[in-house]
Amino acid sequence: MDDKIFQIIADEERRQSEGLELIPSENYVSPQVLRAMGSVLTNKYSEGYPNFENLDGTDAQVLKGAGEENYRYYGGQDNTDRIERLAIARARRLFHADHANVQPHSGAQANNAVYNAWLKPGDTVLGMDLAHGGHLTHGAPVTQSAQIYNFISYGTNPETGDLDYEEIERLAMEHKPKIILVGYSAFMKIPDFDRIAKIGAKIPGCLLMADMAHVAGLIAGGVHPNPLDHGFHVMTTTTHKTLRGPRGGLILSKGIVSNPLKKVGHSIENIPTLIDRSVFPGTQGGPLMHVIAAKAVCFYEAGLPSFRRYARQIVNNTKVLAAELKDAGFVLIGGGSENHLLLIDTIKTCGVDGKTFEKLCDRCGLTLNANAIPNDTRKRFSPSGVRLGTPAITTRGMGENEMRMLATCLNAIADFCPGRNNGQWQDVEIMGKVIVELREAVRYLGKKFPTPTERKI
Ligand SMILES: Cc1ncc(COP(=O)(O)O)c(C=O)c1O
Repeated sequence: MDDKIFQIIADEERRQSEGLELIPSENYVSPQVLRAMGSVLTNKYSEGYPNFENLDGTDAQVLKGAGEENYRYYGGQDNTDRIERLAIARARRLFHADHANVQPHSGAQANNAVYNAWLKPGDTVLGMDLAHGGHLTHGAPVTQSAQIYNFISYGTNPETGDLDYEEIERLAMEHKPKIILVGYSAFMKIPDFDRIAKIGAKIPGCLLMADMAHVAGLIAGGVHPNPLDHGFHVMTTTTHKTLRGPRGGLILSKGIVSNPLKKVGHSIENIPTLIDRSVFPGTQGGPLMHVIAAKAVCFYEAGLPSFRRYARQIVNNTKVLAAELKDAGFVLIGGGSENHLLLIDTIKTCGVDGKTFEKLCDRCGLTLNANAIPNDTRKRFSPSGVRLGTPAITTRGMGENEMRMLATCLNAIADFCPGRNNGQWQDVEIMGKVIVELREAVRYLGKKFPTPTERKI
């Protein structure tokens, strides 16, 4: 028995149970998702794809409807084909897509597979600047894709915190990108997909791609627009953030679905097959069938009425938390939030950088992350803000009362800082006492609202 690793896993279970997870990209999966991920499916190699026939209809129809052939390179695929067909069918249903590729190992892999499917080296992509809330994979110079393709960045309007649509249009007309990319890691507004689709339509051969990694669960739960309903051709996402599934990626698309073993013409209507061929064999090897089974469970759960209630509660909780924090003098980028996350300017709120605030929160059992704010002039490892969100604590069943308690805790932490005490830190002894009290309050909330694994539901 490898008792070292299992002891560490037990320690992590305790950490997750006793602390409060405020990182907006994290969540707690259900015991069913966990069970599928820990299953014998990890033993199976399934390079290729199942049959794509008859994926409309109920799960029972999908299970019955597989044609004779599949597109796999190994035998023994009866069960894996059924699992992947269910995962694809459920994802299509959930997100109104013509096709779903459930094999990307992560969100980054999903984005890279779309670039590889549609672009030639040197082609231009217009995406959001990392420093304004975009993701690394949207063209940060340290990534491989930035070495291959030409990324042009747009930012947010510093006054409103919203997208600068005029700038996006101007840059699009100037650079004629092959992809316009919408979707962010630290953005609290709902993008106007129609407006961007109209811009894209003016550029021949421009693929409209939405990276909805952060808000996929809000889309599935009906509280955020679905870019595929607003003229976008492709949507990528992770499955482990608001969607509350296993760690992994997913690509959804509109267009014609065909045999992935056969080459197709380079057109937007063929994007489903171009993507399939780009995921495998283009950028990945064998799929992780245990994770695909867990994704199928996640899509099932995300289609239930209870998930719609969950998504609504995430947004309500974020709004309540935002209002309470604003009342307490916190400076929020964008003035609040329309989704699941908040970006706080900690320098303006209490005179400390985001890393310092993050560390203080850590000592109280509150996990969040330091984050750059738009036009941040500070270094990446000590940026001017923190990012936090409500998906994980909402999964634990917390509601508006708990958001008020949380705001009180965050405000008590801000009160330690020089910006709130005429440039001086709070007295060390007082700080130590308050940290112990806050730690207790957080532990109390953790006990009162157990994680799904503790509740076994
Ligand atoms: C918008 C966005 N896209 C892509 C990713 C990458 O996902 P992964 O970490 O699964 O590669 C993230 C992760 O934080 C993200 O926020």
